[in-house]
Amino acid sequence: MNHSAEHSAEKIEGQEPLMSRRAFSQVLFTGVGMCYAAAIGYPVYQYLASPISRASEAVAVNQVSLPDANKLEKGSAMMFKFGAKPGILIHHADDTWVAMEAVCTHLACTVQYQAEQNRLFCACHGGVYDTRTGANVAGPPPKPLQAYKVTVEPTSVVVSKV
Ligand code: FES
Repeated sequence: MNHSAEHSAEKIEGQEPLMSRRAFSQVLFTGVGMCYAAAIGYPVYQYLASPISRASEAVAVNQVSLPDANKLEKGSAMMFKFGAKPGILIHHADDTWVAMEAVCTHLACTVQYQAEQNRLFCACHGGVYDTRTGANVAGPPPKPLQAYKVTVEPTSVVVSKV
């Protein structure tokens, strides 16, 4: 009897840590699972939510004023933000000004001004656009860049939707 009482006491003592280990593991796995879900869920949420916020920003912005952009040297360009999207302002050598959305119409990479080649170039797949009209002239882009209206003011350049 003594032996069996000791045995069952041992058993109980042996089981208790096992139970708490199990409980601990459950808590741990639940915690890890929640962190994992948050780690995956947050970027997914951001991904899903961002087109909505980007779209609302884009809708809200019809015009931007670029302080001191009127001092941009001839034959050069600068990038700017038009709402959530990048834009490019070009001051041509003949003193004409052009601005357009700098988002490639192929797969939405940002295009860049290349003065030497007098072109707007998309490095992603070699898309080429005309620097005056934004017309797609080479590579995979299916349509022209969206052009903006440019007004040169005494202390700024105002770019607006056409
Ligand atoms: S994204 Fe510009 S050429 Fe493909």
